[in-house]
Amino acid sequence: MTDEKIGIAGTGFYVPEKVLTNADLEKMVDTSDEWILTRTGIRERRIIAPGETASSMAEQASRQALEVAGVAPEDLDLIIVGTITPDSPLPSTACLLQTRLGNTTAACFDVSAACCGFIFALELGQKLLQGGRYRNALVVSSEVLSSITDWEDRDTCVLFGDGAGVAVLSKGCTRGELLDCYIGSDGEYASLLAIEAGGSACPITSEVLKERKHFIRMEGNKIFKLAVASMVRSAQRVLKQTGLTSKDVTWLLPHQANLRIMKAVAKRLKIPENQVYINVDRYGNMSGATVPIGLAEMDNNGILKKGDLLLMVAFGGGLTWGASLVRW
Ligand code: ACO
Repeated sequence: MTDEKIGIAGTGFYVPEKVLTNADLEKMVDTSDEWILTRTGIRERRIIAPGETASSMAEQASRQALEVAGVAPEDLDLIIVGTITPDSPLPSTACLLQTRLGNTTAACFDVSAACCGFIFALELGQKLLQGGRYRNALVVSSEVLSSITDWEDRDTCVLFGDGAGVAVLSKGCTRGELLDCYIGSDGEYASLLAIEAGGSACPITSEVLKERKHFIRMEGNKIFKLAVASMVRSAQRVLKQTGLTSKDVTWLLPHQANLRIMKAVAKRLKIPENQVYINVDRYGNMSGATVPIGLAEMDNNGILKKGDLLLMVAFGGGLTWGASLVRW
């Protein structure tokens, strides 16, 4: 074990160029800009171009983050990618990203924790660096939600978008010091948010494709309540672990699933709304990528100031939940 601090030496993000607006969706399913905006806070989302993938988006975001961090790709010891939309089931998207970056030695693996993919990967990265063997970790979430979205299902297709966000963790770095993290899950709620087919339990067949079982299905209403409760609990837990309270928090960066969920979480934590970072209006829900994209935007735009306490919190399919505290 090492006593050296672990910090966020650099951040980066990538979103595809193509913008899909609520008006575009009105032409695809029975919905309206008014319904989407009032129920979710989303105005538009980004969708990949042909040829783009989770690993290609991750590469763009990683190059930015590595440059800011001043870390060469060959100096990465770990590459951890949170994703539920890998380029393919095998190999990991982390290995594909490694090759794209020109690294040949890092330990690379994916983490499947849905919208908590980045927070889970961050916890793993921090703990592995603290173990003493490694110095630099690339912590990524890259998601192509458009590839698992049923574009005929108005309950879900209005919610999702594509994008990638990255943080470079370095031992001895005092910028963006990782204070503590808390992660957890409850598989009891697995069926509330799931893709039935495409795994070993239900391989893809023409029947499966006809029944559209390879797309994401969700019980939005039930998830909503669980989301608020689990994010509040996670935030309180990580604050307690560090001896801090929500009054100490400068910025809350929640998983961007729905504006109403974020407002409810902030209210319960007694964090003023002007201290909550929001970009769901521009990108929709990009699963695990929303938190690192928000982080990179806050970093790039100078929103995070030295000494700020940043509380990142997420929930997702599984169910999974988690929170991370960072001193900027
Ligand atoms: N346009 C118009 N009407 C719609 C649409 C749409 N796109 N979608 C649903 N409706 C209708 C429903 O059919 C329903 O009609 P009815 O009253 O006639 O039956 C009505 O709108 C209300 O539907 P609800 O599902 O009750 O709407 P709600 O206020 O709960 O909002 C939403 C739905 C936005 C999905 C919300 O429940 C939510 O955000 N839930 C959480 C989702 C989430 O965070 N998922 C987890 C992350 S995703 C991941 O992990 C990859």
